[in-house]
Amino acid sequence: MEKNRSTFSGKLGFVLAAAGSAVGLGNIWRFPYLAAKYGGGIFLLVYILLVLTFGFSLVVAEIAIGRKTGLSAVGAFNKLCKKFTFLGYFVTVIPVIILSYYSVIGGWVIKYVSVYLLGETQAAATGGYFGSFISGSAQPLIFFAIFFALTALVVLLGVQKGIERVSKIMMPVLIALSAFIAIYGCTIDGAWEGVIYYLKPDISNFSVMTVISAMGQLFYSLSIAMGIMITYGSYMKKDINIESAVHQIEIFDTGIAFLAGLMVIPAVFALSGPENLGKGPGLMFETLPMIFAQMKGGRIIGGVFFLLVFFAAITSSISLMEAVVSVFEDKFGWSRKTSCFAVLVIVAAFGIPSALGYGVLGNFTLLGMDFLSFLDFLTNSVMMPIAAILTCIFICYVIKPKTIYEEVESSGKFRSKKLFTVMLYSAPALLLVILVYSILEAFKIIQV
Ligand code: TRP
Repeated sequence: MEKNRSTFSGKLGFVLAAAGSAVGLGNIWRFPYLAAKYGGGIFLLVYILLVLTFGFSLVVAEIAIGRKTGLSAVGAFNKLCKKFTFLGYFVTVIPVIILSYYSVIGGWVIKYVSVYLLGETQAAATGGYFGSFISGSAQPLIFFAIFFALTALVVLLGVQKGIERVSKIMMPVLIALSAFIAIYGCTIDGAWEGVIYYLKPDISNFSVMTVISAMGQLFYSLSIAMGIMITYGSYMKKDINIESAVHQIEIFDTGIAFLAGLMVIPAVFALSGPENLGKGPGLMFETLPMIFAQMKGGRIIGGVFFLLVFFAAITSSISLMEAVVSVFEDKFGWSRKTSCFAVLVIVAAFGIPSALGYGVLGNFTLLGMDFLSFLDFLTNSVMMPIAAILTCIFICYVIKPKTIYEEVESSGKFRSKKLFTVMLYSAPALLLVILVYSILEAFKIIQV
């Protein structure tokens, strides 16, 4: 464990690596459907405010903990305070669960690459196409297996460097193409209403669910409250300014999510009608094919787009899996192969019911949610808030904020120290309220 850590070459290297893990399906698939469902402009506003305050503070804290200890989550908490080792283990469980349903959605992305390869551009734009795909038995399972197998293969062979290099070239292309699709989508007749819905905060669309879902999305998208940023911090050189690195990661991550919303939401208004805003996880897969079907060269653009999304997704799933495998290796002394196999077993156990939850297992629901939505709820709305509460308490009352200040200040001035401190002390109460609300809501005890 105490072997010499390799470090990122410099600030740019660090920011790109952390952004590579942060930018994924969360930005392109999850953000637009949540924004569409939970209030449009008001969701966007709440989300941005939370990123700049709470998200900022938690990312700084995690990176500082990692850099100070030079260890990943389990080791880091253990080194700072033995009693909190359990928190290290707790946050490590989260990426495993996420990986299993992430791979299901990653499978959907591969399916849509194949749609455009096979030239089913028009068919994919019809209403029932996506629904009949996910309610089947064979296809969702096959594509889920392909996505996970590719992820596992990369981790097993230890070739992520190569993949990451490719994806660094792909990422700017993805951004440019998304911008193009967004502009195209916004100019379709009837899209303007959607642009306004997405950009103009309307307080009458606000609900407690706006805050709950924005908070969950923030954890998910920035990869926080699951030990990932601690690990990244442990690879960060001592002379890099943590604060400005975090700002850059946030701008990157939020910028891409923003663009994805602009790509999907106006098109919903123009092509399928605002009554479809609440569609949920399938939104992107139903809306974008409609745009591609209208475009000249839509088959090629659609195919390239989903291929790029696939790259963004697989870099994230690789880093999810890598996080878990390295804990297994470090803590249980297992070989890489054994660790990968253990991850495979867990991912199959959670992923198979997730993949089948819209078809043969359609009647099997937990708290009224299909299995995939349930896992998403469990991690984002329950486990991550708990992890974040405990992390804040750990910093405020066990190691004291001073420890973080010192680490941040070792590489420059800590400009937002006040904001950071206020956030850290006030977050647990806020998070607790959110946690209780979302659980009560899930159990249908209250309606928010
Ligand atoms: N942030 C990633 C996304 O937006 C998803 C994710 C969550 C992730 N936790 C992670 C990626 C851990 C890598 C490592 O898609």
